[in-house]
Amino acid sequence: MEIRKRSIALAAVLVLLLVGAAALTAEGSREGAAGKAAMPEVGEVTLTSETPRGDLEIFSWWAGDEGPALEALIDVYEKNYPQVNVINATVTGGSGINAKAVLKTRMLGGDPPASFQVHAGQELIGTWVAAGRMLDLTPLAEREGWLDVFPEDLVNNIGTDQGIWSVPVNIHRSNVLWYMPDKLAEWGVKAPRTWDEFFEVADKLEASGVVPLSLATTWTANHLWESVALAVLGADTYDALWAGEISWTDSRVVEVWETYGKVLEYTNEDAPSLSWQQATDMVVSGRAAFNVMGDWAAGYMSTTLGLKPKDDFGWMASPDTGGVFMFLADSFGFPKGCPNPAATLAWLATCGSKEGQDAFNPLKGSISARTDSDLSKYNVYSRSAAQDFGSNRIVGSLAHGVVANEGFMNDFFTVMDMFMSSRDAQQAANACQAIAIQNGIGR
Ligand code: GAL
Repeated sequence: MEIRKRSIALAAVLVLLLVGAAALTAEGSREGAAGKAAMPEVGEVTLTSETPRGDLEIFSWWAGDEGPALEALIDVYEKNYPQVNVINATVTGGSGINAKAVLKTRMLGGDPPASFQVHAGQELIGTWVAAGRMLDLTPLAEREGWLDVFPEDLVNNIGTDQGIWSVPVNIHRSNVLWYMPDKLAEWGVKAPRTWDEFFEVADKLEASGVVPLSLATTWTANHLWESVALAVLGADTYDALWAGEISWTDSRVVEVWETYGKVLEYTNEDAPSLSWQQATDMVVSGRAAFNVMGDWAAGYMSTTLGLKPKDDFGWMASPDTGGVFMFLADSFGFPKGCPNPAATLAWLATCGSKEGQDAFNPLKGSISARTDSDLSKYNVYSRSAAQDFGSNRIVGSLAHGVVANEGFMNDFFTVMDMFMSSRDAQQAANACQAIAIQNGIGR
């Protein structure tokens, strides 16, 4: 009995030592509460050769229909690290609408998950990095050779002068118009290349009882707005807006809201009660003709609904945005206070690996964040997206965290709600100018 107790105690000490060796170290690192591994306040990850084990909680909003790609990535991880018990913690809600609120509570409450989904860009850098909550992944990025395989535009959105803060798993395109070629042929209309063309076909479609453009809950309204903004402003002025080089009260931005208001007139009235998948379903079933959505819609249509890109569903750049690729990237980070550093490091290495990305992205509708991915594993939509990403002008998404921090995004939701009921373009522009200043854009 005594011997058994002693060996349990010895095993416990060993576990602590292993966790300690795997734990993060840094200047300013401190011992945690009795018996806990050292957790740093600031610093970078320390690589370890310890075998990862224990629980690994991965936090994301990829639940239900959005789940298959993440599950494939987790399968790769579990194959390589069978001693780890993965907890796939999801909070449903497109674009992280609910997950981000839960994450905030957990982070502020000192209960971070081992790793969490976060968009590359200001959602990461202007929010969690600015708040000093993330660990610098530079040693891992160097060991894995990521700086040679991730495109520079992307590295600029996960890194600062102080470090590399997350690992991108993909590149999604935001400005895509989806449709069903057979239905368009039946209705005698063509997919519009410009908003003017859209307004023409929209009247025709409405006359035949078809909703011209399907829309869902508010975040999808923000999503549609960014495509209209890019269309009206063009890439240079769109970028200038986020760099604070032009005012939100500039007549060109007021025009964005005016055009957007006009587009909204051709959307379904039940939008607020629909999920993004239901807005896609409207197009698939022929209740609506078009939908502007990120290319996770391609993932949903091909992986979940079993439709074939090109034969069953068609796409083009959203009106007036041809030649521009509005990108966003999902990434995973290493929060300070992470409960299982060794398993998290292995998870992040998997996220950035060619094997992991080429398992995840063909199901997700996105392309790999790596320039060396195996395109033979991707369908015709994704191959065309990869080609466009390599040749188009690149700009960042608002609705999915690239160009503005969470403070601005949250306030933008309020402006959008206000606009939905007032339809007052000048008022929305003025309000945006106020929230931009408040959240550090244009200073
Ligand atoms: C985006 C995310 C995508 C997809 C989409 C719909 O914000 O980057 O991967 O999940 O939301 O939920």
